[in-house]
Amino acid sequence: MDEGANSLRRTLPGSGSFPKIRMRRNRRDSWNRRLVRENTLTTNDLIWPVFVAEGNGKKEEISAMPGQFRWSADRIAEAVAEAAELGIPAVAIFPEIDKAKKDPDGSEAVNADNIVIQAIKAVKSVVPDIGIICDAALDPFTSHGQDGLVRDGYVVNDETVDVLCRQSVLQAAAGCDVISPSDMMDGRVGAIRDALDSAGYDHVRILSYAAKYASAFYMPFRDAIGSGTSLGQGDKKTYQMDPANTDEALREVALDIQEGADMVMVKPGLPYLDVIRRVKDTFGMPTVAYNVSGEYSMLKAASLQGWIDYDRAMIEALVSFKRSGADAILTYSACDAARLIQSGFEV
Ligand code: PBG
Repeated sequence: MDEGANSLRRTLPGSGSFPKIRMRRNRRDSWNRRLVRENTLTTNDLIWPVFVAEGNGKKEEISAMPGQFRWSADRIAEAVAEAAELGIPAVAIFPEIDKAKKDPDGSEAVNADNIVIQAIKAVKSVVPDIGIICDAALDPFTSHGQDGLVRDGYVVNDETVDVLCRQSVLQAAAGCDVISPSDMMDGRVGAIRDALDSAGYDHVRILSYAAKYASAFYMPFRDAIGSGTSLGQGDKKTYQMDPANTDEALREVALDIQEGADMVMVKPGLPYLDVIRRVKDTFGMPTVAYNVSGEYSMLKAASLQGWIDYDRAMIEALVSFKRSGADAILTYSACDAARLIQSGFEV
């Protein structure tokens, strides 16, 4: 040992060898790393968002989301059955509505035979044990791509909430287990709870998009459901949250809990892990993270270029949600992750 190291050793109090505490010991072997691992991702943590499209016999890849497809209602149960077989507890269904059926008031949202309703029924009859989650929001159905009704250029709150209540009850009647208001109107959780209860659906749960930000990371999703072209240069900043805020997220979550939310969501995911942590610590509620389309597409795009290992980066990202305190994660990677977990893949 050279003089420098020897003199350093002598300066450490009571040390026979330098250094006495070696953090690397617990990292030396796989068995040891597994023993001291603090967070574990399991298939039970995953919710898979799936897309339903108009038509028959359709399975169409979404160009901005390689590996994800739009299924027609007559085929969507195929996809969901595969997720169920992998042990994924729930799916979230999102529709791509025919342009011809969109109007300014999103009236197709309250058509009792729209493709969301058809998909719910199809999935329930073929895969009865998987949880079905559906958005309450109008953006897939409106010709302007906004989540609510527009009056004088402004997305109006209370009138929108009335339509969301009708949409929610129709979805519940078709067999949807969880209504997930993603619109960010004020008071909608309480109103939807009342509407569900008075229609006899008191067992139907509400997973509120409680802290949902006006984010650039939704773009591939908007392409997938065709709401991006409807929205054009428009944005959702008068109802979705300012990405710079976190105290405001806590107020949003507090209100949704007070109004009867059973689970709360933070969205997007990876750029908002700090918000997830604060929400979990503050409320101790079942807390769900949405690893949104843009987060998925970034990983896919980089891996298709050979710049990143999708499997490893994806599992690492999902583990980060567990670390941040999330109980469950909506992720387009759910099936990929479940397969990797099944094969014994480690972070
Ligand atoms: C609709 C809705 C959006 C997402 C889920 N529900 C888009 C938006 O608010 O514009 C985004 C999902 C994703 O990007 O993966 N209210």
